[in-house]
Amino acid sequence: MRIENFVLNFSGIVMARLQQKGIHERIQKHLERLNVQNVDDYLLLLESTSSSQVRDELMSLVTVGESFFYRNPAQLQYLRQHLLPELFERKRASGSHLLRVWSAGCSTGEEPYSLAHLLSTYAGTYPEYTCSITAGDINRLNLQWAEKGIYRRRSVRAQVKEIEQLLGKPLGRDLDDGRFAVDPSLRALIEFQFQNLHDLESLKTLWGSDIIFCRNVLIYFEETFKERLVQTFFHLLNPGGMLFLGETESLSGIEQGFKLVSCGGAYGYRKE
Ligand SMILES: C[S@@+](CC[C@H](N)C(=O)[O-])C[C@H]1O[C@@H](n2cnc3c(N)ncnc32)[C@H](O)[C@@H]1O
Repeated sequence: MRIENFVLNFSGIVMARLQQKGIHERIQKHLERLNVQNVDDYLLLLESTSSSQVRDELMSLVTVGESFFYRNPAQLQYLRQHLLPELFERKRASGSHLLRVWSAGCSTGEEPYSLAHLLSTYAGTYPEYTCSITAGDINRLNLQWAEKGIYRRRSVRAQVKEIEQLLGKPLGRDLDDGRFAVDPSLRALIEFQFQNLHDLESLKTLWGSDIIFCRNVLIYFEETFKERLVQTFFHLLNPGGMLFLGETESLSGIEQGFKLVSCGGAYGYRKE
């Protein structure tokens, strides 16, 4: 219970919602590897300021990293057909040349690479714009995977082929060993970084974002923190910008100033 409390206070995650099988056994093994005798000693270690590595290891153990390319294609289709052309025009009118996208809780990177793939197809139409994607996660192991850009087949589902055809550009290529390598040019659009969404102060650098993807992350958070985080997203977004959540998530009751927008089979939230 005390480890659960630490995780909650550090990351906002309610461990009971993770439904991770064998999590307590894994934490126990982790304690043995660290040569820590009991939970009290472990908590002392976690709370000492010099133990960021121990905290990182715990977060990598408890967080869920399930992701795949072009998850919820309806949202990305909405981006392509409506939001991106509108945002580029809005920027043109205001004399700004940078479009900022944030993938919050990016896991192993499939989400930001899908966004980079989509954005890269605008380079010809809007050559004067620079697109930057910041992709953050609390799980450093996930981020290491993401930086490599090499994936198992299960990250590449049927919709990828269709979308590649639609966009006229490959997302990546199959490797001889059965894995999939993302096109290296997409990597240059993304900055992967460690982020703890529970540390709201540290998110200030994301001010001026145009699009925030925070999908399948809020479900694990405690309610009052979720509300504060949504408030922060609202503050960090540019007017006209949008927040996208996972298919089973909603802002019901905590919308702040967001307006719900139907995206043809999916939803998003617009800052008016
Ligand atoms: C289920 S994955 C979602 C991945 C991706 N957004 C998607 O929908 O495919 C949830 C991710 O949220 C991350 N996460 C959980 N709590 C976090 C926090 N406090 N700060 C940053 N990332 C967090 C986890 O490490 C995990 O990689």
